[in-house]
Amino acid sequence: MLRKLLIGTALASGLAFAAHAEDVKEVQMLHWWTSGGEAAALNVLKGDLAKEGYAWKDVPVAGGGGDAAMTALKAMVAAGNYPTASQMLGYTVLDYAAAGVMGDLTETAKKEGWDKSVPAALQKFSVYDGKWVAAPVNVHSVNWLWINKAVMDKIGGTEPKTFDDFVALLDKAKAAGVTPLALGGQNWQEATMFDSVVLSTGGPDFYKKAMNDLDEESLKSDTMKKSFDNLAKLVTYVDPNFSGRDWNLATAMVIKGDALVQVMGDWAKGEFHAANKAPGTDFLCYRFPGTDGSVIYNSDMFGMFNVPEDRKAAQIALATATLSKSFQSAFNVVKGSVPARTDVPDTDFDACGKKGIADLKAANDGGKLFGSLAQGYGAPPAVANAYKDVVSKFVHGQIKTSDEAVTELVKAIDDAK
Ligand code: BGC
Repeated sequence: MLRKLLIGTALASGLAFAAHAEDVKEVQMLHWWTSGGEAAALNVLKGDLAKEGYAWKDVPVAGGGGDAAMTALKAMVAAGNYPTASQMLGYTVLDYAAAGVMGDLTETAKKEGWDKSVPAALQKFSVYDGKWVAAPVNVHSVNWLWINKAVMDKIGGTEPKTFDDFVALLDKAKAAGVTPLALGGQNWQEATMFDSVVLSTGGPDFYKKAMNDLDEESLKSDTMKKSFDNLAKLVTYVDPNFSGRDWNLATAMVIKGDALVQVMGDWAKGEFHAANKAPGTDFLCYRFPGTDGSVIYNSDMFGMFNVPEDRKAAQIALATATLSKSFQSAFNVVKGSVPARTDVPDTDFDACGKKGIADLKAANDGGKLFGSLAQGYGAPPAVANAYKDVVSKFVHGQIKTSDEAVTELVKAIDDAK
């Protein structure tokens, strides 16, 4: 009886037959989750693994968007020093898989039914050549506004539905002496905001053509010029000290009421959550004006490296824990994202989380779910970096006009392809 029970437990924990005495009981993880909300979310994972007897070896590399982390990862991999797993975004997973350094989690995926529960948009990046090489942790989306409710009430603002409404709202904040728009002047933040501006300016089909298909006609179109005009307009509402500011400090400005709104992925909600702020009373989450119905997504994946035999059981434990339904709920409630499985109830999520889950499903069903170019899901890293660079130069005045920005963008993307 006891024996049966033990075998049953081993099967349930996903460690069946894999664990043996010499296994290294440690998970080494490279990631860029260093803000308050991110660290709180990561603690959920550390806790789950500790319960299974796995120690956590942390390799944090600060810097939202993960550029610094990816540089560190490259060096580790080049030295043959593979972590058990690394946080990665979309096309980066595919690059490492193509380089032949990823492990194979297909057996675990089969046992756990990932094929059925993980949406196709994520499988495109977590399965390479028929093999599962990464475990998707969540789905984030970038076309959101995060608004301080007290400031909104003070200025008598209402939900902006169009770009012009948004500008009118920002004007109200300005007139009231509040910084209208909290932005961190780092290229990935500026480009993440621009993803939403392009979708709002050109609509869903245009976003897809320009930002996912890299269609040259769209990239050099008047609509793209207009998108840069709209970006320039938004930048006029930013405070003078924005250069180099970290994203979570921009979120803190909104949390404290020093600014009205931040345009950011829903990891920003993790910061509100960590500060014990509730949607509806302390803050408001709206879709970026003019993007209702569409979702620009990214997903954090744990890319699984081809580690030595004695570290494979730990990797399987990590992957199994990551995609368990209970973890997908508990982690994403804290992280601000939504589950990477379609069968996780929204019960424990706040109003913004419930909206995020519903929006994702509707966008997916309606063909309006698009990869974020700024966040590694629109095109391979070289193209994404070229895009971030041009957007940032425009925001900081090194590229002066929208005409010039479009010319530079087409050229930079072409060179990077
Ligand atoms: C990641 C998020 C993270 C954010 C800021 C994004 O690239 O997908 O998980 O919270 O960067 O660090």
